[in-house]
Amino acid sequence: MSKADIIVGIQWGDEGKGRIVDLYAQDYDVVARFGGGDNAGHQIKVGDVEIALRIVPSGVLNPHVELFVGGGTVVNPLAVLDEFDRLAAIGVDTGRVKISDRAHLVLPYHAAADRASERARGDHAIGTTGRGIGPAYIDKAARTGITVGELARRESLAEKIRLNLLHRTALEGEGIPSEEDIVGATLDAAERLAPHIVDGVAYIHEKFEHDKRVLIEGAQGSLLDVGYGTYPYVTSSHTIAGGACIGLGIGPSAIGRVIGVAKAYCTRVGAGPFPSELHDERGERLRTAGGEFGTVTGRPRRCGWFDAVAGRYAVRLNGLQALALTKLDVLSGFERIGLVTEYRLHGRPVDFSDAGSPGLEVVVEEMEGWSEPIGTVRSIAGLPQAARRYVARIEEVLQRPVELVSIGRERRDLAR
Ligand code: IMO
Ligand code: MG
Repeated sequence: MSKADIIVGIQWGDEGKGRIVDLYAQDYDVVARFGGGDNAGHQIKVGDVEIALRIVPSGVLNPHVELFVGGGTVVNPLAVLDEFDRLAAIGVDTGRVKISDRAHLVLPYHAAADRASERARGDHAIGTTGRGIGPAYIDKAARTGITVGELARRESLAEKIRLNLLHRTALEGEGIPSEEDIVGATLDAAERLAPHIVDGVAYIHEKFEHDKRVLIEGAQGSLLDVGYGTYPYVTSSHTIAGGACIGLGIGPSAIGRVIGVAKAYCTRVGAGPFPSELHDERGERLRTAGGEFGTVTGRPRRCGWFDAVAGRYAVRLNGLQALALTKLDVLSGFERIGLVTEYRLHGRPVDFSDAGSPGLEVVVEEMEGWSEPIGTVRSIAGLPQAARRYVARIEEVLQRPVELVSIGRERRDLAR
């Protein structure tokens, strides 16, 4: 039986997982997502084609690859159909996309609950993507959720939506469509989605049994994991590699390699601790040079130096074996590049678990930058010396090899 490899983001999301998965997918038969929903925004550029994926796995631009949305995800039926339409419009076959019957639905009252909860938090708002992701996972855990499998049972589906709306009188005034409209739209979507819905456990295990090569794609980043991230400033699912087993219904023995994707610097969108954040013109420069604006919400991303303390934490959480480093080209032209190597609290070194502690200080190691553009380099050895040193230093502080560096937005813009 074949084993599956996992690619996860090791920061706060937006590490460039999409383009890395797109690349690795060339050597796999199936690409599977295990968590999150349309809070994810994975941008891929192949020639003139540029797409932002939210739910469909990032392998989709490889025509030979089958795509699977696992049971640990939450799926907004209208959002996924919209994505299918956008893909079909550029000639991509979406018939290959299968969705697990165990995934949960995100319905309009979830987005309304998301908005209401953010407002109620006031200054402590999480800065969610507003897609209703948290409330959908709440329903799942509360056992009031509605699964994708339910879409095949029209009668009980309508009844379940009705019951869910009964409990949500507090959301009146949040602009939720009428019960009739929600039921109608969901039933229409159900019809279109029917050919895509599969018994998710049977689907993935049959792939293994037929020796298919499976690549598992993480969404969000390790530091947004609901259990191990910067809680409560996290998303509502398990984003780390272990989440892949739960989110796909497979055992740990089915896993082969685990690869972590990190940006050569660091960004975060939404609120919460970010020890290596830069509040000066260097942060602004990273934002402009890196085009650091949210794919889903358009919000400017907070920017800062690469954080090795967070990185080492993520290496542990995921059992990482190797790293892919993205957007190294964005650092070209910085005279000096910082790297956070240690956190200190009251003068003593502390671990990532103190990331949100008041009074936390960071130790920044400054490295020499490089001025030459690196977009045409094709091997890590061919990078300017200072860039090579920077990559080597990241390998050293994380104790893991960097097997790939991205230096531009096109598929070919890679050094290995
Ligand atoms: P990809 O897959 C960046 C962040 C939100 C917010 C927090 C909770 O593109 O890396 P949620 O809507 O999930 O309840 O929001 O998590 N967040 C992301 N940030 N990239 C993502 O996905 C994210 N998905 C959620 O900004 O801070
Ligand atoms: Mg994103």
